[in-house]
Amino acid sequence: MFFRSRNNKREMKENKLILGFIGLMVSGCLYAQPPVSDPQMDALVGDLMSRMTLDEKIGQLNLLAVGFDVTGPQLSKDAETKIRHGLVGGILNTYTPDAVRKLQSLAVKESRLGIPLLFGYDLIHGHKTVFPIPLALSCTWNPDLIERSACIAATEASADGINWTFSPMVDIARDPRWGRIAEGAGEDPYLGAQIARAMVRGYQGDDLSRSNALMACVKHFALYGAAEAGRDYNTVDMSRIRMYQYYLPPYQAAVEAGAGSVMSSFNEINGVPATANHWLLTDLLRTQWGFQGFVVTDYAAISEMSEHGMGDFRKDAALALNAGVDMDMVSEAYLNYLPELVAHGEISESMIDQACRRILEAKYKLGLFTDPYRGCTMERARREMLTPENRKAAREMAEQSFVLLKNDRQLLPLKKSGVIALVGPLADDQENLLGCCRGGGDWQQAVSLRTGISHVAGSAVTILHAKGANLTDDPALRATLKAFGEEIPVDSRSPREMVAEAVAMAARADVVVAVLGEAFSMSGEAASRSDIGLPECQRDLLQALVETGKPVVLVLMNGRPLTLGWEAEHCGAILETWFGGTEAGNAVADVLFGNYNPSGKLTATFPRNVGQIPIYYNHKNTGRPYLSDPGAKYVSRFLDVSNDPLYPFGYGLSYTTFAYGDIKLSQTNLIGDQTLLASVAVTNAGRRAGEETVQLYLSQPAASVTRSVEDLRGFQKVRLQPGETREVTFRITPDDLKFYNGNLEYDWEPGEFIVRIGSDSASLKSATVRWSKQAVTAKTP
Ligand code: BGC
Repeated sequence: MFFRSRNNKREMKENKLILGFIGLMVSGCLYAQPPVSDPQMDALVGDLMSRMTLDEKIGQLNLLAVGFDVTGPQLSKDAETKIRHGLVGGILNTYTPDAVRKLQSLAVKESRLGIPLLFGYDLIHGHKTVFPIPLALSCTWNPDLIERSACIAATEASADGINWTFSPMVDIARDPRWGRIAEGAGEDPYLGAQIARAMVRGYQGDDLSRSNALMACVKHFALYGAAEAGRDYNTVDMSRIRMYQYYLPPYQAAVEAGAGSVMSSFNEINGVPATANHWLLTDLLRTQWGFQGFVVTDYAAISEMSEHGMGDFRKDAALALNAGVDMDMVSEAYLNYLPELVAHGEISESMIDQACRRILEAKYKLGLFTDPYRGCTMERARREMLTPENRKAAREMAEQSFVLLKNDRQLLPLKKSGVIALVGPLADDQENLLGCCRGGGDWQQAVSLRTGISHVAGSAVTILHAKGANLTDDPALRATLKAFGEEIPVDSRSPREMVAEAVAMAARADVVVAVLGEAFSMSGEAASRSDIGLPECQRDLLQALVETGKPVVLVLMNGRPLTLGWEAEHCGAILETWFGGTEAGNAVADVLFGNYNPSGKLTATFPRNVGQIPIYYNHKNTGRPYLSDPGAKYVSRFLDVSNDPLYPFGYGLSYTTFAYGDIKLSQTNLIGDQTLLASVAVTNAGRRAGEETVQLYLSQPAASVTRSVEDLRGFQKVRLQPGETREVTFRITPDDLKFYNGNLEYDWEPGEFIVRIGSDSASLKSATVRWSKQAVTAKTP
């Protein structure tokens, strides 16, 4: 039975009154900001809640894992029986119209009140059409394109029965050892916030009830990317000022963009796990930011709280609910303990009502009470997934996400003629191209680079192919990945034989393209690495190829910044292609042969070695900055490596070059709300059309708290023909000068500001202005 009384107007009206009263009480004591009222929604939800038992309300707070993917150590049992008894609010990891319809019809036809289920899934970078991994997408510096990727993902996934995505992941990451750096937008809060907004818009659109929209879930709230040593799930400890300045802005941006849900993170914050953290989930999220949706835990996070040291499971259920967690993913702590906690007066029933209401409201907004299946059919799924247009978009996104790290003597682009030795474990690979967190993606749909080259370069190019090396020969790593069910295929030949074959091919070729990197399972969740170089067997192969004396183009496929000191010294060209998704091979070939001129810019710093980590561009100056004098002692430096990264934030080359003129300012003394115009002339000084991301950074050398050496505050992408010059202008207002002061107030302080504009965070023109709060009045004698 589907929600029976939806047409009973009289009943709805009566319940509206009751609801209005409850709503007032709720808003009076629990909401800092009154919820946006929707009388129809309030009536429907109110009516339902007036007829729900306590167990049924608790059931709405229960999210079970059923089906295809397992992302934690537990899987839910007896899901079907529980659905029939109204003890489940949502399911994760089930999709396809048939599977979803089956479970949804149990809920709407066989449970007492017929309340539909949410169907959540990790759609991290696409569904069937898989886009580049999020870290790669962020390197496009193109929020519109990223919004489109989320929009396409929503269309495909909703056709497959999903209505809720556990995305965007907006965790700032300054540590590439952390495998989940692959799932985010890198290290910068300004760019991260823009991308967070774009993704929420892309998934949700402006009307969640459209059958092709998905509800977004911002994760992992909060600070999950700051795990000590980059070891996944490790402790986070951070000052408030650092979190406000650098880590919280993307979450806040996603909330402000209207994200329907937020996921609490696994880590602790200020000594209390996020899932039990009232300050985080209520004071900050709801009171300060005005969040109106619901909060779900990460996978079984309540059951992990005792391991954190928070006492037993039963107590932790109460802690989580009181902190502000509405929905319990997988652990079933709410289902098992909330009834008795209410009975013993240890939690108040109104907390359960509040959580239940938030979940029912989300279901209402998704239109589930009107059509619980949201029009998903096998026919629609076939029609809307992996369409040629979606593949085309994936190819475009992949092209824009690649970062050209080195290109000596214009080794790239390659000519569409001659002989190429295409070598390496990823040269003819499909399986790894989708990267981590590939959701419903099917790697067999992915285009390998070898195939892509045949599409793009045609028959005038002769390709000699050799694998050359396994992805890794490290037995311990292989054993661990095997235990995870992610076995790395190993060639039966010895490493020496494989290298010899590749070297022989290189000898016959004009140029070597070495396609090296990580297995997809070496980044993503539970995939931290302490050594982030190329695996040894691949490095040996590369060394042998370099020794042939043939020009070597290194094409990288990987999920994190790598340490590439040796490679940067010895390879003629390096193209970072991350894991490029379904169309990776075509897109890489487009770039290698110059059909697309690379334009990606790094959003995470590439360190020289692991000892430099954490290394990020918006660091503090310290009291003893190192200013490049090699003899300087007692300054903040290493003895054995420079302070500079190998490749800085914002960096990325093109097949053309861009020349920057000096900064022109509209004025150099500003007062109050005035607007500063800062312009540079950017010239395409090469012979190919190309796109440049012009970046604006601001610094404030003196303030009431120490500031970053510079902060990104704007960027513009410009496409220039050879020889063309464009004046690029940034409008800077006092809003761009704001930061969190010692009292955590977001404001600006008068003083001197350095405006920096250029092509990456380390290659910038600069100019200085003074900005005061008010005009200095002349003193009367
Ligand atoms: C991950 C989340 C994910 C969840 C559900 C967890 O292990 O941390 O990012 O959304 O599983 O699959």
